Amino acid sequence: MSASHNAATPPRDPLAFLESRRSVAFTDLGAPGPDPAQLDRLLAVAARTPDHALLVPWRFIVLEGEARGQASARLAAAYRLAHPDMEEARREKFAAIMGRLFTHAPVVVAVVSRPDRSTRIPVFEQELSAGAVCMNLLHAIHAQGFSGTWVTGWAATHPLALAVLGVEAGEQVAGLVHMGTARQMPGERPRPDMAALVRRWSPAGA
Ligand SMILES: Cc1cc2nc3c(=O)[nH]c(=O)nc-3n(C[C@H](O)[C@H](O)[C@H](O)COP(=O)(O)O)c2cc1C
Repeated sequence: MSASHNAATPPRDPLAFLESRRSVAFTDLGAPGPDPAQLDRLLAVAARTPDHALLVPWRFIVLEGEARGQASARLAAAYRLAHPDMEEARREKFAAIMGRLFTHAPVVVAVVSRPDRSTRIPVFEQELSAGAVCMNLLHAIHAQGFSGTWVTGWAATHPLALAVLGVEAGEQVAGLVHMGTARQMPGERPRPDMAALVRRWSPAGA
């Protein structure tokens, strides 16, 4: 998908447009990415997500510009600290991956799940809302003419990595959403067999 799509013009076939979205590996994402005004709009769209009882059980941590390299370098250091017993060559291999993690895509957004445990709304539902924010963000990125991907992994789960990102107690990273321009678009991936997934309820089959 090129950046030429005009987000102000509804696609002729909105469902075909959704069908055309593919996740692009973050190592295949480069400049340009959304500028600050575009990013503000992307996040505002992502925040237009169903949220039981309006708890806003999520927030965003934006990595852009020089902060991407700085945070990645801290992740690499955290990775070394977390793996004192790992064979050195292996540790350095993964530390180097961490040291570049946020430097490929021009913008990376950590969608942080922060369920309010004091309410009657189940934590599960609040976490679903955070996941929906990630998906909404991916669609918004596509609509803006960019590409993105939703990943997690060590950087999104290890306590030392979460400390680097600024994730607080009681919070989790729902997704690291990398966004930018695809250097190459992947082909289609296998999709679920819908006939095997969908059943129409009938009294006889209940
Ligand atoms: C919560 C979550 C975490 C994921 N984490 C990773 C990951 O760490 N690494 C990875 O390669 N893919 C990960 N994926 C899968 C990618 O997003 C995958 O590229 C995507 O499903 C591709 O499908 P699409 O083109 O239909 O979007 C994750 C997906 C989800 C929903």
